[in-house]
Amino acid sequence: MSPEKSILIVHGGRFGQSEKIARAIQTTLEQAGRATELVPLTSETAPDPDRHQGLVLVTSVRYGHFDRNAYRLVTHWRPWLVSVPCQLVTVSLTARKPEKRTVDNHVYTRKFVEKSDWPGLVEIVAGVLEYPNYNVLDRSAIQLIMRMTDGPTDKTVSIEYTDWDQVRRAAERFAALPPPAGADAAGA
Ligand SMILES: Cc1cc2nc3c(=O)[nH]c(=O)nc-3n(C[C@H](O)[C@H](O)[C@H](O)COP(=O)(O)O)c2cc1C
Repeated sequence: MSPEKSILIVHGGRFGQSEKIARAIQTTLEQAGRATELVPLTSETAPDPDRHQGLVLVTSVRYGHFDRNAYRLVTHWRPWLVSVPCQLVTVSLTARKPEKRTVDNHVYTRKFVEKSDWPGLVEIVAGVLEYPNYNVLDRSAIQLIMRMTDGPTDKTVSIEYTDWDQVRRAAERFAALPPPAGADAAGA
């Protein structure tokens, strides 16, 4: 019997929040009985269609952009992605406002979805604000963004805005997607 194929969970990011979210998704998927493999997003990241039967891509916004490797992954693997369940999870501070957590209202995610022609589910999740971890330039830039959007500007502030219930529900939605055609319960 061939081993069960797994869901590939890929996380980008710089300060670890995308990874933390990816790990929470992994926990929920495994609780739902799905095998998973978690890897960082690099220029080399690639699914293996013989071993993987789905993709969750967790990636954060930095200065208005996602990691270019996220685009590379989606563009290069599109023929496979359209044949398996997949979910994009974007992480940003803009999403700390619940009304921004839709593709229409979240401009970065909307652009990614349009530009990459993303074929799967989309979840827009809030990240963290951690002034003490930023260098001077990043701190000033984030303070400016926060000032413009009525957020905290005190440089001692660390706030995790991530809604972990939302993350769990998103993973449950993914787990409920039908497996790709041809995959049986053992993922043959
Ligand atoms: C230098 C820097 C630039 C950022 N730029 C944006 C931005 O343009 N828009 C936004 O909504 N969030 C922005 N953020 C917030 C991050 O997306 C958020 O902190 C997220 O939790 C980072 O996740 P990561 O640790 O996985 O990279 C920025 C954060 C940093 C440190």
